[in-house]
Amino acid sequence: MMMLPTSLILILAATILACDIPTSPLSNNIAESFALQIQNASFPDIHNHFLNIWDWGGGDQHLFVSPAGNSTSQLILVDGVITLPWDPPRRAVINGEYEVKDNTTKMFMTERGDPRAIYDVVYGCNPDTDALQTELSFKSRGDLEIGGNIGVRPFNGMYDFRWTPAGNTAYDVDRPWTKVTLVVIHS
Ligand SMILES: *[C@@H]1O[C@H](CO)[C@@H](O)[C@H](O)[C@H]1NC(C)=O
Ligand SMILES: *[C@@H]1O[C@H](CO)[C@@H](O)[C@H](O)[C@H]1NC(C)=O
Ligand SMILES: *[C@@H]1O[C@H](CO)[C@@H](O)[C@H](O)[C@H]1NC(C)=O
Repeated sequence: MMMLPTSLILILAATILACDIPTSPLSNNIAESFALQIQNASFPDIHNHFLNIWDWGGGDQHLFVSPAGNSTSQLILVDGVITLPWDPPRRAVINGEYEVKDNTTKMFMTERGDPRAIYDVVYGCNPDTDALQTELSFKSRGDLEIGGNIGVRPFNGMYDFRWTPAGNTAYDVDRPWTKVTLVVIHS
């Protein structure tokens, strides 16, 4: 192994450590409305775009990466569930359009009782500016605390939002699923 001078190691460590993350836990309720920015600095087509809603009929709002659909900064978080505080409320769920090829399932918003997408609220560091930011970290699909990740996948020239369980190894080269970070942005 190559030996590095201690001073160089310290510089490298400082570069990697990024912003200071507070140790205080964050509530899984966010009452002040927000937009959700999506980040993956390796994929400029989606990096720093936003989660948009699309009136899909039947009261459902499907979720697409901006510029597709309508932008929203009306989201709130209720017990870890992304919610549009409409009458009736629309909640983010994981259900439908399961794809065996890449083992992903759609995330969309509905007033019905599909298994909800439940998140923890965590701190992170902005990959571009290194500023402290608030992120949603996937925790449970309904009652199943099985973790996994939210990502986006090509859909008719746009990108929709899809969940995949932790440890998933299925991958569709024709419709590559890209993991994203969901960032809470208050306007
Ligand atoms: C965007 O919002 C407008 C006004 O509510 C609605 O008429 C239109 O159908 C929406 N478009 C999409 C793509 O959801
Ligand atoms: C697909 O996801 C299920 C859990 O929903 C998991 O048990 C299975 O191992 C996954 N398949 C692959 C190929 O990763
Ligand atoms: C960006 O996407 C790739 C492919 O899904 C993934 O391996 C990587 O972890 C993602 N990066 C972030 C910061 O989420």
